[in-house]
Amino acid sequence: MKKTVAVIGSNGAIGNSISEILIKDDSVQVVYKFSRILNNENSDKVKNIQIDIKDETSIEKSIGKLPNDIKFDLIFVATGMLHNDDDIFPEKSIKDISKKKLQKILLVNTVGPTLVGKYFIPFLKKDTRSVFAFLSARVGSISDNKLGGWYSYRASKTALNQIIKNFSIEIRRSNPNAIFVGLQPGTVKSYLSKPFEKNVKAENLFTPHYSAEKLLEVINNLDKDDSGKIYAWDGEEIQP
Ligand SMILES: NC(=O)c1ccc[n+]([C@@H]2O[C@H](COP(=O)([O-])OP(=O)(O)OC[C@H]3O[C@@H](n4cnc5c(N)ncnc54)[C@H](OP(=O)(O)O)[C@@H]3O)[C@@H](O)[C@H]2O)c1
Repeated sequence: MKKTVAVIGSNGAIGNSISEILIKDDSVQVVYKFSRILNNENSDKVKNIQIDIKDETSIEKSIGKLPNDIKFDLIFVATGMLHNDDDIFPEKSIKDISKKKLQKILLVNTVGPTLVGKYFIPFLKKDTRSVFAFLSARVGSISDNKLGGWYSYRASKTALNQIIKNFSIEIRRSNPNAIFVGLQPGTVKSYLSKPFEKNVKAENLFTPHYSAEKLLEVINNLDKDDSGKIYAWDGEEIQP
């Protein structure tokens, strides 16, 4: 049976590449693309739905646009924020911390994906293997934190990893075929990484397409025992 998949944040660099690969994949029947930017170019294979993950009502409305009986083989959450063009930039030191930054980053990187989980989990397939993947980040690992800084972004991803673990524990009982996973995409050329790409060796700065291919490979190789864990683009497990 062909697969039904959803990508939340389908307009971002990685989300767009994941969507493009899945659209070209003959084993996939339909790709539901969720983004703040509504694209009306729908087809038999591609359906676009608007979502703002900061807004619980918007998430609820977005699932209201899905067919009642739909079940997903894969739900991929590709949203996230590290900086914006206005008032948000990762903190270098304690003096850079502000309530506004913490609230905005945690809202997009932790609260939003958690609410997406709340509303989308009932749409996971139960009779066969299904995967709910969230883009996380290596800097969310406490044991890997050697450099400090980036207070709000690090904390937002650490908290997201905890939420993923919680989802895996709770849903194991009602849907033992569901796998919840956090993914580290590598350093990927995108709006999000742009201010920091000069610090990265060319060979370590991935194209979104390369990262997306590797992440889908990791997803294909997951089994039930991997649920609740965090994996990098090359399949390495990242310790909490
Ligand atoms: N790039 C890297 O090097 C890197 C490294 C480690 C982890 N990651 C993680 O990978 C994920 C994707 O990053 P990226 O590099 O692809 O960044 P990106 O190109 O900036 O994409 C970010 C995406 O998040 C979406 N988004 C932000 N706020 C949203 C909201 N309120 N509602 C709905 N969508 C929202 C954006 O939607 P719009 O298009 O509507 O703005 C965009 O699709 C993030 O979680 C990031 O933390 C990236």
